[in-house]
Amino acid sequence: KRVMTPLNHPRTKSLEAQPKGHLDTDLDLLCLSVHPSRCKFFSLTETPEDYTIIVDEEGFLELPSSEHLSVADATWLALNVVSGGGSFSSSQPIGVTKIAKSVIAPLADQNISVFMLSTYQTDFILVRERDLPFVTHTLSSEFTILRVVNGETVAAENLGITNGFVKPKLVQRPVIHPLSSPSNRFCVTSLDPDTLPAVATLLMDVMFYSNGVKDPMTTGDDCGHIRFFSFSLIEGYISLVMDVQTQQRFPSNLLFTSASGELWKMVRIGGQPLGFDECGIVAQISEPLAAADIPAYYISTFKFDHALVPEENINGVISALKVSQAEKH
Ligand code: ARG
Repeated sequence: KRVMTPLNHPRTKSLEAQPKGHLDTDLDLLCLSVHPSRCKFFSLTETPEDYTIIVDEEGFLELPSSEHLSVADATWLALNVVSGGGSFSSSQPIGVTKIAKSVIAPLADQNISVFMLSTYQTDFILVRERDLPFVTHTLSSEFTILRVVNGETVAAENLGITNGFVKPKLVQRPVIHPLSSPSNRFCVTSLDPDTLPAVATLLMDVMFYSNGVKDPMTTGDDCGHIRFFSFSLIEGYISLVMDVQTQQRFPSNLLFTSASGELWKMVRIGGQPLGFDECGIVAQISEPLAAADIPAYYISTFKFDHALVPEENINGVISALKVSQAEKH
């Protein structure tokens, strides 16, 4: 059995800060992530429509209150798959592709809503705390779910039930929501936490003050270019997802990238805001990718979902997903 852990971010909330002008809380947000804090799970993603913040309970308490902050209902738990020791195969597909069949599809089959956050290091699957017994039950054949509470690892409670569960659908899962693909080319990088203070101002500038700045690279009327930047500091590990123009603003040799240094293109999912109740969206996208063995990162934000695939695969991915979309009736 593989082990699914650590659930040691027991109260991850997802918030949205409206980009009304600039957040006057930006400094506080960055301090939260840069300075010693009890917050162990911090993620901030900028999209054209908002900033999405995911923080644990400690971080949430440190957040300045703001009328511009919308807080998603319920408390979410962050799960991630920890391979149970043993050999680490280097040919393992990365990102959501490796958990599409074992985790994402079974949860979607049981109508459990998830919220995804892929980072350089791992992929977090957020589930509502109240769904945990169903999650544990659904995944129990393949995973042992451990929960870390106050630093102690305990087995997550299991439902003592064996029936009443919906049979997995063997039918296709058509893509329901509209898709778009911005022209940005992204890299998924990491940073030594010790060098974080050295780039703190740059990070702030990139995340909060670059709106009106015309980047020489993008001044050609690249209307397909969007603002997207994701920063996370989770249990001491930093992950940054940014486009190549933004990457060039960082001192060279500071950011870690994968040896292949590959670039990623994005599929944005959603026309209307996706909300938090609908199930199966991540599955609709990640299952076809897994079937085709295409690695992918997946980042949910307050309104929309974002999948990142290797740039050489983007055209194939878009057409495959469009075919799946056409099948919905
Ligand atoms: N709940 C969706 C699912 O189960 C994914 C999240 C979509 N919602 C959002 N606000 N990004 O597939």
